[in-house]
Amino acid sequence: MKLFSRPLIINLKNYLEIGGNDSIKFARKATGVQKKYDVDIIISPPISSLLAVSNITQLPVVSQHVDDEYVGPSTGFTVPEIIKSCGAVGSIINHSEHKIDLLTVKNLIKRLRGLNLISIVCAADVGEVNKISSFSPDYIAIEPPELIGKGIAVSKANPSIISMSVKAVRNNSTTTRVLCGAGIVNKSDVTKALELGADGILVASGIIKSSSWYHKIEELSSAFV
Ligand code: G3P
Repeated sequence: MKLFSRPLIINLKNYLEIGGNDSIKFARKATGVQKKYDVDIIISPPISSLLAVSNITQLPVVSQHVDDEYVGPSTGFTVPEIIKSCGAVGSIINHSEHKIDLLTVKNLIKRLRGLNLISIVCAADVGEVNKISSFSPDYIAIEPPELIGKGIAVSKANPSIISMSVKAVRNNSTTTRVLCGAGIVNKSDVTKALELGADGILVASGIIKSSSWYHKIEELSSAFV
C-alpha cells in the first residue's frame, strides 16, 4: 500500500460542477498540474464517477465514503472491496457530511488495511482526533465543520486546532499522518497548515468553485514545493 507523504486531496463532493463527464474533465486538469509539480494530488470523486476517473488518470483516486457492509449480498452500499476493484487506493471515512460511529470507523480502518487500501478518517475536533488516532488510521483529517465551505481557512481561523491535533496524534500513533481541511482557498492557507505541522490538506470548494480548476490546483500545489 503506497502512503503519500504530503497529499493534496481534492474532495469533489456532489457539486454539480463535477457532474457526469465534468469529473473526468476535472481529473484531466489535475493530472496536468501533477505532471508539473512533484505533489501527491489525490482525487475523491462521487462513487458514480470513481471507475471512469480512475481509468483516465494516473492520479490516485479515493472514495468519499465506504460502508462496513457485506461484500456480495448487500444492496445500495459502497463496500471497500468494490472501490478497490474500481481502482481506488483508499477511502475518506467519517467526513462531517457523512458521520459514522467510532466502532464502525475502527472496523473500517482494519478492513481497508486488510485490502491494502488507505484510510483517511475525518475528525471534527481534537477530542475526536484523540479517539480516532488510537485506531492508527493512515491519515486523520481535522476539519472543523463550521469552517467547511466558508472560504476562511482552518489554518487561519483556528490554527491551534491543527497544532493540537498534530500533538494528539503523535501521542497515540507513530504512523498516522495529519491532514487538515475546511475553508482552504489559496496558497498561503496551505503554507500555514504545513507550517503548523499538517502533512497535507483536504480541499473542495476552493478549487471546484474557482474560475480555473487548473490554476487553482497549481496555486495550492506550489505551496508544497
Ligand atoms: O473534505 C474536504 C472538505 O470538507 C473541505 O471543504 O469546501 O471548505 O474546501 P471546503
